[in-house]
Amino acid sequence: MYTASTLTGSKPDQYAQLLEQAQGLLHDERDRIANAANLSALVYNALPGLNWVGFYFFDGTELVVGPFQGLPACVRIPLDKGVCGAAARTRTTQRIEDVHAFPGHIACDSASNSELVVPLVAADGTLIGVFDLDSPNTARFDAEDQAGLEAIARAFVESLG
Ligand code: SME
Repeated sequence: MYTASTLTGSKPDQYAQLLEQAQGLLHDERDRIANAANLSALVYNALPGLNWVGFYFFDGTELVVGPFQGLPACVRIPLDKGVCGAAARTRTTQRIEDVHAFPGHIACDSASNSELVVPLVAADGTLIGVFDLDSPNTARFDAEDQAGLEAIARAFVESLG
């Protein structure tokens, strides 16, 4: 049985604990659906101020929704659309303080006001998809959140083998 443990200390300390919990969940498992599902549940329940946490996978043409926590979401996102498309296309993390000011933002959940999207790229350069977090709070994510969530996204990519 999984027992949630409360994160304590500074924000970097908390992300180190969260990464450790993530690595525990990913240990010895390579299935990307299983790992994405458990990471979504872990992060959604561990961090405050989130209304959506999940994965989109690149199918060779566009992003297709994968495992997530939150309200039902847009199924397909072209690479030239939205914050997720920008992260996938540019392969750089998009940390958006106010999504309403982002040209082409796709409003899946009207509660979302800020967003962090981390691209998932395999060691050989193949685009796997993106890890997407939405918040109802404006400017929910700072540089420490970005670093912590990028480390969790890296652990996911590495778990795929
Ligand atoms: N807002 C995202 C779409 C995905 S949802 O937030 C789940 C975007 O603009 O890419």
